[in-house]
Amino acid sequence: MTKIISFEGFEYSGKSTQIDLLKKYFKKNKIKSEFTREPGGIKDLEKIREVIVNSSFSNKSLILFFFASRFELISKIELLNQNKLYVFDRYFDSTYAYQGKNAEDKKIIKNLISLIDKKSIPKITFYLDINKNSLFERKKSRSFQNKFDQIYLNQYERIKKNYNELTKLKIGNRKFIKINANRDPDIIHQEVIFHIKKCKLI
Ligand code: TYD
Repeated sequence: MTKIISFEGFEYSGKSTQIDLLKKYFKKNKIKSEFTREPGGIKDLEKIREVIVNSSFSNKSLILFFFASRFELISKIELLNQNKLYVFDRYFDSTYAYQGKNAEDKKIIKNLISLIDKKSIPKITFYLDINKNSLFERKKSRSFQNKFDQIYLNQYERIKKNYNELTKLKIGNRKFIKINANRDPDIIHQEVIFHIKKCKLI
């Protein structure tokens, strides 16, 4: 069975650092795994990624584009690998957090999530929770990667509220683990490994 672990959180939350540390850990311990990212993840979808993250699409269109890209990625993964450990850099929670602007949009997103087959629901989702001061401190030393990062940085409160709603939402049997991301990356990494082992994913 495919086992999925997903990572969520703001740009500058240290998400990429944690994913890199996990990649190194798996390599060192000879644990077979695949890493992918959303939007994109595979060749054709990377082209679509560029279009999406630099677009001025309406919120509803964005929801559908993100899910179209997502369903395509899921179907490819199902075809290719029946028995692998996958690490996703963002997944459906990002659409809820970022595009969940009002009750109607959230309802649409929840309905789309419910169309995802049980086997493609993550076993664990790590949400790296960073406070506003740390986020803006980290931002200072870096440039924006794409148009979205710039727009969404100013919607910190709304996105954080949505991520907090996700901690209470039951989606299959997945565990949604909120991690205090204002700490040392190595300590966070140990915590990530602890949970992955606890869930018997490695
Ligand atoms: P990316 O460069 O991958 O940013 P990050 O390093 O933060 O993951 O850009 C992805 C952008 O797309 C990011 O701003 C979050 C946004 N996004 C959504 O708004 N909705 C989604 O469903 C997904 C997957 C990403």
